[in-house]
Amino acid sequence: MKNSKYYIAIIIFLLLIIGLVFIVNRSNKDYYLVRGKKSYEKHCVNCHGQNGDGLQLLIPPLTDPAWFENDSVVCIIKNGMEGSILVNGKNFNTRMTGNPKIEYDEIADLVSYIRHTFLKKPQRMTPKQVNEQILKCR
Ligand code: HEC
Repeated sequence: MKNSKYYIAIIIFLLLIIGLVFIVNRSNKDYYLVRGKKSYEKHCVNCHGQNGDGLQLLIPPLTDPAWFENDSVVCIIKNGMEGSILVNGKNFNTRMTGNPKIEYDEIADLVSYIRHTFLKKPQRMTPKQVNEQILKCR
């Protein structure tokens, strides 16, 4: 019985360590979202807006899953797009310039961030998927 305080202290200490490891691990895992947000603010926010709402009939919102479930969204980010499109039931017909120099890792973080934040679909995209998709872009 004399030692029980000692054991309890050790157990509490171990639990603290486990908790700390868990927290550090988690924040590492979510760091791609922080990078994705930064990239969004650098490359996309000026047009598509802080919440991906777009701008009236000039710039479409980034909240339509139809455009983000498919990996081909990678091609839009890299090469831009123009012509008539339908987003959330509304017609847009303007032009988006591409980002030909953007790294594959950055595209992966960017798409993951948009899926997670605007579409509430935490489906992460990997650089490998970006690479595979880029080869299919027209
Ligand atoms: C210069 C303004 C501008 C910037 C910067 C820009 N876009 Fe766009 N984006 C547009 C316009 C305009 C369209 C619609 C093009 C059309 O009508 O064919 C569009 C269309 C899209 C589409 C397809 C439709 C939709 O709403 O889902 C996606 C996806 C997209 N942009 C993602 C991005 C991402 C991600 C970035 C940052 C890398 C970005 N855009 C940066 C103007 C911009």
